[in-house]
Amino acid sequence: MKVLLTGGAGYIGSHTCVELINSGYEPVIADNLSNSSIKVLDRIEKITGKKPIFYEIDVADFDSLDKLFFEQDIDAVIHFAGYKAVGESYMFPVKYYRNNINTTLTLLDVMKKHGVNKIVFSSSATVYGIPKTTPCLDETMPTCCANPYGWTKLFVEQILRDTATAEKEFSVVLLRYFNPIGAHESGLIGDNPNGIPNNLMPYITQVAVKKLPYLRVFGNDYNTKDGTGVRDYIHVVDLARGHLKALEYADKHNGTEVFNLGTGNGCSVLDVVNAFSKANDMEIPYQICDRRPGDIDEYFANPKKANEILNWKAEFDLFDMCRDSWNWQKNNKNGYDD
Ligand code: NAD
Ligand code: UFG
Repeated sequence: MKVLLTGGAGYIGSHTCVELINSGYEPVIADNLSNSSIKVLDRIEKITGKKPIFYEIDVADFDSLDKLFFEQDIDAVIHFAGYKAVGESYMFPVKYYRNNINTTLTLLDVMKKHGVNKIVFSSSATVYGIPKTTPCLDETMPTCCANPYGWTKLFVEQILRDTATAEKEFSVVLLRYFNPIGAHESGLIGDNPNGIPNNLMPYITQVAVKKLPYLRVFGNDYNTKDGTGVRDYIHVVDLARGHLKALEYADKHNGTEVFNLGTGNGCSVLDVVNAFSKANDMEIPYQICDRRPGDIDEYFANPKKANEILNWKAEFDLFDMCRDSWNWQKNNKNGYDD
């Protein structure tokens, strides 16, 4: 089965590409490298023995994508391509709406032209907004976003749902990721943020590698067990494997289905700091700072639906995630620039 990975050179796409190759799929990557490195292709080859087919294109560009579909006999698509920085999306909302929505619209036009009707989409737990009743989120809960990035995810979810309603052969799987961290056990691929990281784990690993002096813990007065924010961290390899299950599901069903991909465990910022110290035998200096605007106290996944229907379950724990994040960072102090 030939699977197009839009944005497949990125953090989650590259890990999914490895899992696809290991399971006998033929991945084709389309990426404009706006937030990734061409070196990822050699790393994937080192891990799997196979270099994925690669097109350096903007997925929003109809002609380039059309050419790819003419040249490759694509059976299904996993749509990762998009911008993902919540803070940046407040500053440049149009840039976010344009890229995240235009890539999807072009993709759907080209898929229709070439008779491809299976798509798995990278959505996010951010679409649940601020939990009203319980921090344990299941797929039936109402959606509402607090930031432009999140709205792009919700709008794309709706565009895909409407497409599947209009076209009876269409199959859409919406995957709502919780907080992916960790890296492939080889240490050859991993999260490679530009500049100072926004997210917790790459910030911690950059403190560990002494690029940054200490971690700023954003608030210790949240309504959580130790006052720091609680999230559901999931190993990126578990997440990647969820995509293979989603593809199998899309192959057998029409219409739209949505699944949370999380572990079901809520971990505080201090839990992550302590697990990192334990897993890697080092202290992470930190200071308690003001809350980061827009952050939510606590949420984590109810992953029951994915467990039961996709037959998928997260296997790695927080210790594994911390070990593998550090293994990637210590071997690649400057990410793919080393
Ligand atoms: P990433 O930035 O590492 O990967 C996205 C890839 O898309 C990059 O390689 C980038 O170059 C590419 N891209 C962006 N716009 C493009 C365009 N117009 N044409 C072609 N390529 C383009 O991000 P990631 O962490 O791997 O996330 C993948 C997807 O999952 C994104 O859609 C993101 O919004 C979503 N997601 C990520 C997280 C997270 O915490 N990492 C959480 C929830 C959802
Ligand atoms: N945090 C710190 N210090 C930091 C960075 C983060 O204390 O330097 C805290 C945050 O306040 C929060 C927790 O660590 O309590 C996690 O923050 P992240 O920035 O790592 O992740 P978020 O939960 O804010 O958001 C991430 C992605 C979103 C995605 C969401 C899905 O950035 O794009 O997960 O749940 F939508």
